[in-house]
Amino acid sequence: MTQTTQTKPIGDTGMGRLHDQVAIITGSGRGIGRAIAEALAGQGAKIVISDINEELCKSTADELSQQGLQVLGVPCNVTQSESIEKMVETVVNSWGRIDILVNNAGITRDALFMRMTEEQWQAVIDTNLSSAFKVTKPVVKVMSKQRSGRIINIASTTGVHGNFGQVNYAAAKGGLIAMTKTIALEYASRNITCNAVAPGFIDTAMTKALGEEIISKVIEKIPLGRMGTPDDIAQAVVFLAGPGSYITGQVLEVNGGLYT
Ligand SMILES: NC(=O)c1ccc[n+]([C@@H]2O[C@H](COP(=O)([O-])OP(=O)(O)OC[C@H]3O[C@@H](n4cnc5c(N)ncnc54)[C@H](O)[C@@H]3O)[C@@H](O)[C@H]2O)c1
Repeated sequence: MTQTTQTKPIGDTGMGRLHDQVAIITGSGRGIGRAIAEALAGQGAKIVISDINEELCKSTADELSQQGLQVLGVPCNVTQSESIEKMVETVVNSWGRIDILVNNAGITRDALFMRMTEEQWQAVIDTNLSSAFKVTKPVVKVMSKQRSGRIINIASTTGVHGNFGQVNYAAAKGGLIAMTKTIALEYASRNITCNAVAPGFIDTAMTKALGEEIISKVIEKIPLGRMGTPDDIAQAVVFLAGPGSYITGQVLEVNGGLYT
């Protein structure tokens, strides 16, 4: 009887499944974005660290490049088309292509509906929704010429189920999910997939701001009994960024089983 032993996963060339692919991750100076960048680089991708905070953008890019990763640090404000155009131009001039786009930059400005100001509403819509429209436009042009690409939008369980005090954030993330499904349809013929990852409650500066009391109340409701880590989200992104994917227009909730 012949026995076959598989020594490495199918498709693993030994260089990482994303060897030499160029990935832009917005808002990757810290938190989930940084973890995504590190995980993609861990699979061999060349990563673009991009953030509105120029200092953070530089220090994170320097740190990762000292670890031997292929990194380009390009500051960018995702609410400003001019800033986005410059970032995309820099990436294409440096590395000639864009294979993966992760629309990750985001903010919260929480308040109950009756108390929410127009400024709070607009800031979150601009940074969490319109930004993805503005960034995806020039990037998808590059991907269309290549006839390949992976777009991954970082949404939220709030965008699927709603959440107290987050009508602006829920509307933005819900809109981002609807945008994901539509871009998936429009670009499938060019071999470009577009999916969303919807994180639950993840341990970053964004959630630390909620304070210990609220955090422990939420943890009590999470079936897996803990907050997620940025790397939990990063692993889902690596999965969706992989080559030869038949998955598009989907929303992957990564939330420890918490649905509301
Ligand atoms: N932390 C969570 O529990 C959680 C849950 C669901 C979804 N998310 C989403 O994950 C993404 C990352 O969140 P995080 O928790 O890492 O937050 P974070 O605040 O730690 O990091 C967000 C990063 O985005 C950058 N940023 C903000 N505005 C920007 C702009 N206009 N242009 C470019 N960069 C900008 C910030 O400087 C920061 O580095 C966000 O889209 C957020 O909505 C987070």
